[in-house]
Amino acid sequence: MTVRAAFDELCKKLEASGVESPGYEVRLMFEEFFGMTRFRMNEERDRQLSQKEKSCLSAAAERRCKGEPLQYILGKWDFMDRKYFVGHGVLIPRDDTEVCVRTCLDDLRKRTSPKVLELCAGTGIIAVTLAKQVPGCTVTAVEKEKAAFEYLEKNIAYHKADNVRAFSGDIFLCCNEFEDMSFDALVSNPPYIETNVVPTLQREVQFEPETALDGGSDGLDFYRCIARKWSKKLRSGGSITLEIGESQAKAVTDLLLENGFRDVVTVKDIQELDRVIYGTKA
Ligand SMILES: C[S@@+](CC[C@H](N)C(=O)[O-])C[C@H]1O[C@@H](n2cnc3c(N)ncnc32)[C@H](O)[C@@H]1O
Repeated sequence: MTVRAAFDELCKKLEASGVESPGYEVRLMFEEFFGMTRFRMNEERDRQLSQKEKSCLSAAAERRCKGEPLQYILGKWDFMDRKYFVGHGVLIPRDDTEVCVRTCLDDLRKRTSPKVLELCAGTGIIAVTLAKQVPGCTVTAVEKEKAAFEYLEKNIAYHKADNVRAFSGDIFLCCNEFEDMSFDALVSNPPYIETNVVPTLQREVQFEPETALDGGSDGLDFYRCIARKWSKKLRSGGSITLEIGESQAKAVTDLLLENGFRDVVTVKDIQELDRVIYGTKA
């Protein structure tokens, strides 16, 4: 079978199983598996695929047709121009999180050698981006789940982000293990979906760990814990940046105002949806 024929066949299979952008996905597969850019695919369109290449594509197609996210099949995904390892047990980076990172970056650039605490770090996209883009910055990144923690360590090493320290711990339990009360910034994209909504999310999301999504019955468990316990780790004048679900702005703002924060604002995403809460410790 030629490159062209394999491409077309794979697109048809994915389309039939309900994948929205089959051409885009199949191109990414060729690129990740065989290093074939769109240009090279065109150049080699009449080349016969090897048995190994065919098996690789058909295994990927089988997984994708069952609804497994493309990102897990590729094993890597981009966030703000850097590649991160992803796979079962860790949340796939979302473009939405860029709003959180940019808000935090704007804050950190006004500070000198800031000390940052990231809670619920997952793949480490937030910690690594901040650590790489802010001169003199150090980041402590806390993650509870074993599989996610392994990806966090792997991504820190891959990006040579020596100024990120990965800490394995449950944020509901490990706060007292942190003696440092002088962090300049706290940032988090915690699980924030309401428990009863999690099973209704699209089929791809069902492959992602529930522990990365479920924020408790009202979706606010993690924000309560962060506002009440972890805000004590910030020095006066330190900042907090929290990614939120689109309907949570008022509840999270109130939690911060009740727990010693001022100048609390909501930042919207490109679709004008509330996406981030940012405030300053009084
Ligand atoms: C919404 S994901 C965010 C991951 C990453 N920061 C990002 O933006 O892509 C939430 C993360 O919190 C972690 N987590 C869940 N419960 C936790 C807990 N009790 N303590 C620490 N981390 C937890 C999950 O394993 C998951 O990696």
